[in-house]
Amino acid sequence: MNDAMIDALYKQAKEWVYEAGAMIKDSFSRKLDITYKSHQADLVTNMDKNIEKFFATLIHEHYPDHKIIGEEGYGDEVKKMDGTLWIIDPIDGTTNFVHQQSNFAISIGIFVDGVGVIAFIYDVARDELFHCVKGQGIYLNDQKLPSLRTNVLAESVVAINGTWLTPNPKIDHQSLIPIVRKSRGTRSYGTAALELAYVACGRIDAYITMRLSPWDFAAGYILIGEAGGTISTVSGESVNLLEKNSIFASKKGLHEEILSIIYEGAKSE
Ligand code: IPD
Ligand code: CA
Ligand code: CA
Ligand code: CA
Repeated sequence: MNDAMIDALYKQAKEWVYEAGAMIKDSFSRKLDITYKSHQADLVTNMDKNIEKFFATLIHEHYPDHKIIGEEGYGDEVKKMDGTLWIIDPIDGTTNFVHQQSNFAISIGIFVDGVGVIAFIYDVARDELFHCVKGQGIYLNDQKLPSLRTNVLAESVVAINGTWLTPNPKIDHQSLIPIVRKSRGTRSYGTAALELAYVACGRIDAYITMRLSPWDFAAGYILIGEAGGTISTVSGESVNLLEKNSIFASKKGLHEEILSIIYEGAKSE
């Protein structure tokens, strides 16, 4: 895909993102149909499904050779990153959407042959669109944002999901305690997409979580790379875009500092 085709795809996708955002805003005054999936804390609403269906229908109609991975099942069976792939989370932060009508986002990453080329994370309630086209820098609405600088943990705000600080099967929870202690503060927004967007735009310095699906991190992965940050698994390995991963995104420098704390914790296990 050449640059002109990528720009055209970006413009089209952006229009759809705003349309989807308007559909979500409209739904605020109507009663949601809420059910749960695997357990009581795993909510899904009619809007999660409607929005994913909206994108899947348009993409299949306009770009029949493009593939889709989506949380709610309207996408395709995708086993490799060949061709053009849209990775979509129609509503990231469904619990916040249901409980707060805020702190949730539409998250879309578009990859061509495995390379992230376009990303959108749209905070519908605040009308903040974090977006980028590879090589052109990242934007918040119409404002171009500066590249990320390095930082030290003592001056950093770190987003972390509180559940990982309790005994859990994914990580020795004690190894996370020094990160919390040494940082300037911790936050937990309940939406991986916005937490990644906030790292990309510098509102927070790092985000650490133990298990996300491709639709949770795909757009953030592209934004962080474009912003000059680092994104890896919690053990410092490359992220596999087709599988569940732990995710650790941060500014450079800080990434090494936090990884060394995690390695120390792992050694003393
Ligand atoms: C969830 C949110 C949350 C993260 C969960 C995700 P959903 O996505 O990103 O912050 O901790 O692991 O499943 O289900 O609201 O799209
Ligand atoms: Ca979900
Ligand atoms: Ca999600
Ligand atoms: Ca979701």
